[in-house]
Order: sequence, then C-alpha cells, then structure tokens
Amino acid sequence: MMSCLWMCLSLLYLLQHSVSSDQVVSLICPKNLEVSYGETVTVNCSIEWKGNRNCTGREFVWKYRDDNIECKNASTKYICDWDRRSYVFLNIFDVNNNTSVSVEIVSDCGLDVSPFITVNVSGELLLASKSLFSVQL
Ligand SMILES: *[C@@H]1O[C@H](CO)[C@@H](O)[C@H](O)[C@H]1NC(C)=O
Ligand SMILES: *[C@@H]1O[C@H](CO)[C@@H](O)[C@H](O)[C@H]1NC(C)=O
Ligand SMILES: *[C@@H]1O[C@H](CO)[C@@H](O)[C@H](O)[C@H]1NC(C)=O
Ligand SMILES: *[C@@H]1O[C@H](CO)[C@@H](O)[C@H](O)[C@H]1NC(C)=O
Ligand SMILES: *[C@@H]1O[C@H](CO)[C@@H](O)[C@H](O)[C@H]1NC(C)=O
Ligand SMILES: *[C@@H]1O[C@H](CO)[C@@H](O)[C@H](O)[C@H]1NC(C)=O
Repeated sequence: MMSCLWMCLSLLYLLQHSVSSDQVVSLICPKNLEVSYGETVTVNCSIEWKGNRNCTGREFVWKYRDDNIECKNASTKYICDWDRRSYVFLNIFDVNNNTSVSVEIVSDCGLDVSPFITVNVSGELLLASKSLFSVQL
C-alpha cells in the first residue's frame, strides 16, 4: 500500500519534473556532516515554499541509497519527525559507518527529493583528541 503510494508519487514527481522545473517546495539540507564514531548525528533539512505558499507536508521518507529508513516508530537506531511545514529531521544513533542519506517529501503543493547528504564518521584519532580535550576542561 505504502510502496504503491511512493511509486506512484515518484512517477508523478518524474513526470512533473520532466515537464517543468517550476518547483514549489524545496528541501535545503547540509551537504555533509561529521560525527565521531558511536555518537548521534542529526540531519535536519529545512523546507522552503516558493512565494511563501501556505502548503502542508503530507508524507516524508528518509532513505539510504537502496533502502527506506524505518525511523517513524520508536527505534534504538533512528528517530525522524517533521512539523510538515518548515523542517524534517533524522537522528541516527550510534553511527558506525560512513554513509549517505536522502529525504523525500510529498506536500499538497508538490514534491521534492533532497540530494544525498554524506555522513562522515571521523576516526579514533578525533575521538581520542576530543576526550583529551574534555578532560582538560
Ligand atoms: C531542525 O531545525 C528546525 C528549524 O531550524 C528546528 O526548529 C528544529 O528544532 C530542529 N530539529 C532538530 C531535531 O534539531
Ligand atoms: C495556512 O493554512 C492553515 C490551514 O490550512 C491555516 O490554519 C493557517 O492560518 C494558514 N496560514 C496562513 C499564514 O495563511
Ligand atoms: C509502527 O508500528 C506499528 C505496530 O507495530 C505498525 O502497524 C505501523 O505500520 C508502524 N508504522 C511505521 C511508519 O512503520
Ligand atoms: C570514514 O571515511 C574517512 C575518510 O573519508 C576515514 O578516515 C574513516 O576511517 C572512515 N570511517 C569509518 C568508520 O569507516
Ligand atoms: C550503514 O549502517 C546502516 C545501519 O547499520 C546500514 O543500514 C547502512 O546500509 C550502512 N551504510 C553503508 C553505506 O554501509
Ligand atoms: C571526511 O572527513 C575528512 C576529514 O575532515 C575529509 O578529509 C574527507 O574528505 C571527508 N570525507 C567525506 C566523504 O566527506
């Protein structure tokens, strides 16, 4: 049911974009984020509406390159939420790999898909110097 919704909406999106580049909603996301191994990263994208249109978000999905991220139900690995209007975020807990995520939203005024956001896990060196730093404080 859900996947049909997304497939149909994606088709609609492609159709809409091949016809016109006149986009009402845009996701503004960081290009890349750095996080220390084992820590939490928050990917927070802002939502902008062309001409301050008063639109409401309907659905969103966060994805890895191949998979949707199951973050809407309480999970020990992910949390995601939005206000349907100005932002959509994803928390990844205990980050242990370099990865990329992307978010897609559907609103009553149109759709957008963000570029991939790189999550860059810094090595043990940074982790070590960081704990040294906090010891000194
Ligand atoms: C995401 O950003 C919005 C606006 O910039 C802010 O209101 C919201 O609290 C942020 N959410 C998180 C989880 O950082
Ligand atoms: C936007 O629309 C919502 C309901 O659709 C309404 O409650 C709100 O007052 C509107 N805001 C503006 C600034 O028009
Ligand atoms: C959340 O969990 C409930 C019950 O386990 C399930 O019915 C529902 O589809 C889940 N929602 C999402 C968004 O995964
Ligand atoms: C992530 O990539 C960086 C280089 O871009 C590398 O130094 C680091 O060790 C990688 N981290 C993991 C957990 O693979
Ligand atoms: C990173 O780890 C997550 C969760 O363990 C996994 O779903 C994802 O596919 C991994 N990404 C890469 C690029 O290995
Ligand atoms: C990850 O961070 C390192 C150190 O800041 C940087 O050299 C590298 O280019 C980054 N890799 C990615 C994929 O952003």
